[in-house]
Amino acid sequence: MKSKKKKNSLNVIYNKDSRTILETIPSDIKIQTTITSPPYYDMKDYDSDNQVGYGQTYDDYLNDLQSIFKDIFKITEDNGTLWIIIDTFKRNNQVITLPFDLSNKLKEVGWLLQDVIIWKKDKTVPWSTNGFMQRKFEYILFFSKTINYKSNKDNVRVYDTSQLKKWWIKYPERYNPKGKALDEVWEYPIPTQGSWGEEYIRHFCPLPQDMVATMIQISTDENDNILDPFAGSGTVLSQSAYMKRNYIGFELNSKYISMFEEYLEKTFSKYRKEYDLFSQNKDQGDFEKQILDLRALKFARILVTNIERNTKFDNFKIFVTPKETSKLKHKLLRVEYQIIGKIDKTIFLDEVKVLTNKAPLSKFGIESTFKFLGSKKFSIKKHFGYTKTNTYSFVKNSDLYSTKIRVVSEIGVDLNENDYL
Ligand SMILES: C[S@@+](CC[C@H](N)C(=O)[O-])C[C@H]1O[C@@H](n2cnc3c(N)ncnc32)[C@H](O)[C@@H]1O
Repeated sequence: MKSKKKKNSLNVIYNKDSRTILETIPSDIKIQTTITSPPYYDMKDYDSDNQVGYGQTYDDYLNDLQSIFKDIFKITEDNGTLWIIIDTFKRNNQVITLPFDLSNKLKEVGWLLQDVIIWKKDKTVPWSTNGFMQRKFEYILFFSKTINYKSNKDNVRVYDTSQLKKWWIKYPERYNPKGKALDEVWEYPIPTQGSWGEEYIRHFCPLPQDMVATMIQISTDENDNILDPFAGSGTVLSQSAYMKRNYIGFELNSKYISMFEEYLEKTFSKYRKEYDLFSQNKDQGDFEKQILDLRALKFARILVTNIERNTKFDNFKIFVTPKETSKLKHKLLRVEYQIIGKIDKTIFLDEVKVLTNKAPLSKFGIESTFKFLGSKKFSIKKHFGYTKTNTYSFVKNSDLYSTKIRVVSEIGVDLNENDYL
């Protein structure tokens, strides 16, 4: 397979103890992000000698993890990050707050805790009983090496409109054109099928592929190096390979390594194709265009309503032409608004000045310019007409000269809110 063993020290999984990271990884290699789920203390025997967790005291376990993550800190890029998936557990009828104990240990060696994320699962793994309530979540701790860390937020915004409330249609100014920001509760079911065998799932409890993909999107770019010091089934490593990143893994149990290599071989071309399709990001571009179109039109509608109320000019229309990306700070789009009808230019522009400098119009990200066409007939080849109460659904076959039509544009947005409940 082409992606593997580009250089000997990248795209490898070492059958070694992760306490040997510094001596194993060549000193010229820097890690951009580490994504890992360490053994959760001695909850499970992974069937090899010298495991971290199994058979150790809690203090020894925490100290070993601290020293491993201290070594990782040293070989991490200055803008690098660390994701740890970890959970609480119960001992002597009490909850042990492992995620927080570990996070204090990591703070001592320089890691900065940036976010605590709840990974909401659909069901639990067999051994994770904690009390009388069903266990439904684990923690994800997100650390950075410095305060200036790589974070490609726009890559992971939600722009699939079926996942957004219908309000994005009426209130486009409240939605980032790239999509809604991620929140701190991530819902990903535990993998149960697909290429993983049943036995495999039970043994490893692998991380959900999509969840790992999200972390990789946020913290790395193509060709960056990703480390998993407790590789297990190798979800982090295989996902890195699909997404054109380099991986380095450590795993004590050689059986798991063979299974990972076989798995990667079998799945590589399918998931690489999926990644290539996804990275074209066409849907995000479409969403962005829709939000900006909606904003450009709604901006005109708000002007019509307010100017009419404040000045009593009630027989003008606004023709909307988006021009280009704005170069001004805090503005996204430059739009030309042509005013058709008999109005007093000075009064009109004074009103515009007041209206565009305060909310809501100041929040639209629109750099507006105005042109006055008087009341002469205008000719446009293809156009859509909107009333002053709605600029997300055009009036079909409208007579542009009807008094009802107040906003006219070559932009045709026809969205039915009821399709987006
Ligand atoms: C919770 S599992 C990781 C699961 C993995 N994230 C996945 O998606 O399958 C922890 C793994 O760490 C390995 N391990 C334990 N101690 C280790 C050590 N000192 N060095 C390297 N690997 C170790 C275990 O064999 C086990 O496979």
